[in-house]
Amino acid sequence: MPWMQTLAFVLICACRTIRAVSEEACHVDGDTCHEVEQLAVTMLQAHIVARESSSRAQPDYHWASGRGNFPDYAVSQNVAPFNLSRSLAWSWHHPEGRFATLTYGTAIDEDGNIYLSAADGMRKFDTNGVLQWAYISLPAEVMNAPALYKGRVYGSSTTGHVFCLDMQTGQEVWKTRVSEAIGQDNGFNMVHNGVALAACDWRLPSSYGPANQKLKALNASTGEEMWTFEPDTPVWNFLPLFVEGGSFMFQDMTGKVYNLWLDTGHLVWKAGGREGTWTDGGIALGPNGLVYAVNKNHPVPMAPANPYSPEPMVLVSEYSPGTLSAYNTSDGHLMWKVTTPRPPNNAPAVGKVLNLPGTSVVMPLCQQVHIGAFCDVQVHDAETGGLRWTFHGPAQTGLYQAADAEGFATRLAHGVRGMCLPNGWSAPTIDAAGTVFVGNEEGKFFALRDLDGDGVVSGQDEVAFYDTHAAFAGSSSPAVAPGMVAVASCDSLFVFK
Ligand SMILES: *[C@@H]1O[C@H](CO)[C@@H](O)[C@H](O)[C@H]1NC(C)=O
Ligand SMILES: *[C@@H]1O[C@H](CO)[C@@H](O)[C@H](O)[C@H]1NC(C)=O
Ligand SMILES: *[C@@H]1O[C@H](CO)[C@@H](O)[C@H](O)[C@H]1NC(C)=O
Repeated sequence: MPWMQTLAFVLICACRTIRAVSEEACHVDGDTCHEVEQLAVTMLQAHIVARESSSRAQPDYHWASGRGNFPDYAVSQNVAPFNLSRSLAWSWHHPEGRFATLTYGTAIDEDGNIYLSAADGMRKFDTNGVLQWAYISLPAEVMNAPALYKGRVYGSSTTGHVFCLDMQTGQEVWKTRVSEAIGQDNGFNMVHNGVALAACDWRLPSSYGPANQKLKALNASTGEEMWTFEPDTPVWNFLPLFVEGGSFMFQDMTGKVYNLWLDTGHLVWKAGGREGTWTDGGIALGPNGLVYAVNKNHPVPMAPANPYSPEPMVLVSEYSPGTLSAYNTSDGHLMWKVTTPRPPNNAPAVGKVLNLPGTSVVMPLCQQVHIGAFCDVQVHDAETGGLRWTFHGPAQTGLYQAADAEGFATRLAHGVRGMCLPNGWSAPTIDAAGTVFVGNEEGKFFALRDLDGDGVVSGQDEVAFYDTHAAFAGSSSPAVAPGMVAVASCDSLFVFK
């Protein structure tokens, strides 16, 4: 009875919702809903121009959030080792065994210390793998990737708490309960300009079972609530990305993109999405003033498997198509869209990929938890959507993803959810050499590059990997520091140097 336990979490959040821009105030123009706020658009344009012309300031941390650094998320200015099979420096799993917790997201500070979120809490390791502190959150589970901001590390937990810890000591600075529950999906806690964002209010309805209905902004110094926003449909694997000029963007589970002012939560514009569908994908930002979003093209026929009971997930076709769309960051205008041959079930990465001119969109494609289904990575031209190269990845060999069913009983015995049930791929990262790093549900952590420029990534010179023997959560996003890449599988942290 998967719904029994799920329903136990369905409690109504009493949080106050401020919807500054009502449906009626929006004039709907095809797929796009433009708010008539010319000032907003003008300011954003000015900042996009400024962003293109100014050189990047040195970031405070090597990899400040699960998704890297503002404003060039998912790309690093540093080079990580390509040959993963010979560069593992160290790895960590829970001392009571691989399945005693689930590991999710990574961030790296200026000294190469690594912050790891896990179902049982948050940990800090020094660059050589020595545990510095552990913040144990149980029975609350920490599902999202952490964010580093001004000496503090931010996270949220399934009991509806957003928390802030001292990076040095792991001591709690503040903890605010923002709703009865926060979903068990793997999203990202993100902080910028003194504001910490979190998704919350996990409940029905959605097109995919209970989901986070709202997002909240908290004062990053005090934990005080600033505003609440309720998107048209809930979010999944919430990934908000900030842009210069004072706004941020995210997509809901249907692929609809929202651009909100960070200080007020007021809507600038929203666009796209496919009603009734679900993806656990997210957005990416390009240095070209475009935002990229993903959706599935068909509704999911039934609710997801329950992570507390190993029931088979519905078998959606591995070829169930989706859409990768590019919108103008300023006004939400659709620039192009392409149909993907497999579901786009994670956020893309946008950056300079080896041997390709201009900017590229790296798009992982896979129908997860589907025996026999293959997973691909496609690279598209960021300006036109044209296909540039494809990596044909592994197929799922078991009924479940690598090491997922095996750990079920052990995980429950340790008070964490029984299964990881993640996306088919981790989120991808591009390093300064243009190599793509991404983890696959069959366990391999890949480094990919099209060295000969033939449009297919294959062979020893183009595909390096390390087999972690476990799948990767959606909030697992390879974190790059100089000469180093850290990634969490669903049960261990791996650091390559
Ligand atoms: C957070 O709270 C502090 C103390 O009240 C205040 O000075 C600061 O301006 C607030 N930050 C934001 C982003 O509102
Ligand atoms: C985005 O929209 C703004 C305002 O409408 C426009 O000035 C700008 O040229 C557009 N950017 C692109 C890349 O088309
Ligand atoms: C990667 O390292 C392994 C082991 O040292 C070696 O056999 C292989 O040739 C290397 N691959 C590349 C592309 O350098």
